[in-house]
Amino acid sequence: ETMWRLLVLLLSAVAIEARVSFAKSEVLDNVDLQGTNKAAFRCSAGCRIFSPTKTDQIVVIDGAGNKVATLRMLSEVNLAVERFDLPAGSYELKNVGPPNPSFVFYAVEVGAANFETEVHYLDDFLSAFFSAEATGNITLLSTSGTVSFYNFLGFSQLDSLPTIYAAGFDSADACRPVFTARSAVGLSRTAFVVNSPIATVMFDKPADGRWVLVNSDTEGKKQLTNVDSSAVYTTPGYVGCPSVGDALYSLVPPLTKIDADATLTNDTGLHIIVNGDYSIADQADALSLTINDDVMKLYGKNSISKSYDGSKVDVKLAWKKNEKAKDAFAVQIDVSSTG
Ligand SMILES: *[C@@H]1O[C@H](CO)[C@@H](O)[C@H](O)[C@H]1NC(C)=O
Ligand SMILES: *[C@@H]1O[C@H](CO)[C@@H](O)[C@H](O)[C@H]1NC(C)=O
Repeated sequence: ETMWRLLVLLLSAVAIEARVSFAKSEVLDNVDLQGTNKAAFRCSAGCRIFSPTKTDQIVVIDGAGNKVATLRMLSEVNLAVERFDLPAGSYELKNVGPPNPSFVFYAVEVGAANFETEVHYLDDFLSAFFSAEATGNITLLSTSGTVSFYNFLGFSQLDSLPTIYAAGFDSADACRPVFTARSAVGLSRTAFVVNSPIATVMFDKPADGRWVLVNSDTEGKKQLTNVDSSAVYTTPGYVGCPSVGDALYSLVPPLTKIDADATLTNDTGLHIIVNGDYSIADQADALSLTINDDVMKLYGKNSISKSYDGSKVDVKLAWKKNEKAKDAFAVQIDVSSTG
């Protein structure tokens, strides 16, 4: 009897770690090869596969058990000119190395939206410089589990500012962005970290700007140091796509808390906009967000959209990770001068 109960408990523990599966793609990472050496992914109509992880110890095998690629081979594809496509079939990732590897793998089925979008790989400790003009929409896959955005330079047209998602190019349309640029000036003074191994930058119209990313910088820079700027706070693994349920990415930085504190003043007036969504199971783990005198303890599944006006803004945000929970949130705060 006890054995059965134990088994049932174990099975339900496994079931909680659902993979991040979208309508036309899947993102597999650490959790998918934990306690198992194989993980199937969808490719029934053919698919395009990506991985920035430089390892020979995770291989892609076809239905007959033949090796068709290693993650290292995928990481070495010159994405400026090539892609790695698989014909329709059944495939699995197989771990042939030590147990519980750290990796990220993105498989997009033929017929997915935005299929030809550019993809770039970000390696730990290396910075990369992108020109929005050259890339257009772009998906970034990161070996550190973070994508850090800063130095948004040269953006000038309001209708071609970036919107950033913690998902691949195929699913962005169905997801909530973690960042929406509100002005070219504000964008140039904004820097933030998205705690996800995958991020997509979308532009409604061809853009004219450039930006730099560093993905080893998990702490990020202090945000809201200027009256015209935005701040973005995301919990590790946040996806933002209703279709994935409570699933989170598991290749993430070891963040156990998020704390932020900023005070800005301008006598001619400030306008503050707060937008976010959260899924936090217990009141005890609530996200604490205070804007001036408005003290909020956010928990449950909901979104927030508020604005404030005044000559001074005090922002305090505090959250502690509950290791046992699948809690997640993303909050964007924009401050602009009204003078
Ligand atoms: C980026 O993708 C969106 C959504 O598919 C599309 O509307 C837009 O035109 C694309 N932007 C560029 C610059 O191609
Ligand atoms: C306050 O806002 C005005 C109008 O945008 C701006 O010109 C001025 O530099 C700001 N002052 C400070 C201290 O940021």
